[in-house]
Amino acid sequence: MAAILVLHGPNLNLLGERENEIYGETSLEEINLRLRQAGANLGLEVRTFQSNSEGALIDALHDARTWAAGVVFNPGGYTHTSVALRDAVAALRIPVVEVHLSNVDQREEFRQRSLIAPACVGKISGFGWRSYLLGLYALSFILQAEG
Ligand code: DQA
Repeated sequence: MAAILVLHGPNLNLLGERENEIYGETSLEEINLRLRQAGANLGLEVRTFQSNSEGALIDALHDARTWAAGVVFNPGGYTHTSVALRDAVAALRIPVVEVHLSNVDQREEFRQRSLIAPACVGKISGFGWRSYLLGLYALSFILQAEG
């Protein structure tokens, strides 16, 4: 069974208690559970990881080279600042889908620029926790087309 990394960046551990009007009521644990279930229905093993630190996210992306068929990545605030994460994504030979719970294009100007999206196959933004689900579906389509 192909395995997928769902990678969550900084502050996403606080989902469900953080700016709920923007990010929704669903906790990270609950999102991860739903993604593992959806993955099982798609024939994909979903492994999840969250970190608030840039280095740990880079290490997780490097490690994914050895086992993952693709990555669903919400880089959080690093989306708008991190050249190092963009380089880590660009170094991968597997597809990475960038996802955001909120519609970043409707928000502050600094959120409308992603340094990471140009290194990804695509970006999904604005569907709450379901952005992750759509990211997983997108990877499933890509992997089927490749297979
Ligand atoms: C976010 C959007 C980012 O701008 C913000 O810094 C986050 C969450 C989202 O999922 O909507 O932490 O990535």
